[in-house]
Amino acid sequence: MIIRKALDSDLDDVLSIERAAFGSGDGAEIVQTLLGDDSAKPIVSLLAFQENKAVGHILFSRASLKPDAPLSISILGPLAVLPDFQKQGIGGKLIEKGLDILSTSGVDVVFVLGHPTYYPRHGFKPAGILGFEPSYPIPEKNADAWMVQELSPGIIGNFRGKVICADSLDDPKYWRE
Ligand SMILES: CC(C)(COP(=O)(O)OP(=O)(O)OC[C@H]1O[C@@H](n2cnc3c(N)ncnc32)[C@H](O)[C@@H]1OP(=O)(O)O)[C@@H](O)C(=O)NCCC(=O)NCCS
Repeated sequence: MIIRKALDSDLDDVLSIERAAFGSGDGAEIVQTLLGDDSAKPIVSLLAFQENKAVGHILFSRASLKPDAPLSISILGPLAVLPDFQKQGIGGKLIEKGLDILSTSGVDVVFVLGHPTYYPRHGFKPAGILGFEPSYPIPEKNADAWMVQELSPGIIGNFRGKVICADSLDDPKYWRE
């Protein structure tokens, strides 16, 4: 499998993976809105290929903390793998590669709102009890779906606050799990 940064010319592949994986336009809509949003940059958008076919996509966008903190912060999402290619480790490899790139580029901490039994396999842990509030309140029963992973040591425990997402994600419809 090859994973590389998604190019502008890959947009059709990216959107069709998102639509097929989510079974709706939700993932594709989030990707399109984030790609056009300056407040989301820097964005890391990666495509996974098997035998020259694009089969998986992941995107990370910029976030910040309130009160303001001297941290470089990213939010993971969406992540999508074509249904016929799921359960082969592609999602996991996209997460690992993305975290590697973010770490190398100086990102300190990454958040995700997602499946609470999936992301802990890749180092994420519940963020609420560690003092990181999501951009929008999440129902108590889904609290574990809001997760964090530090890429630089010493973030968890020393910082807390509300995570402010890119402007285009600042809509309650994107904050349901
Ligand atoms: C979630 C998703 C990206 C995982 O991709 P993948 O390439 O199949 O993931 P991996 O192969 O790395 O891991 C597969 C494991 O994750 C598990 N998994 C998949 N979706 C899961 C979910 N919603 N909750 C918990 N575990 C899940 C699988 O059951 C499998 O478990 P196993 O290893 O015990 O068999 C993919 O299923 C997908 O595109 N789903 C639809 C879109 C989506 O929900 N995106 C994530 C939004 S948070």
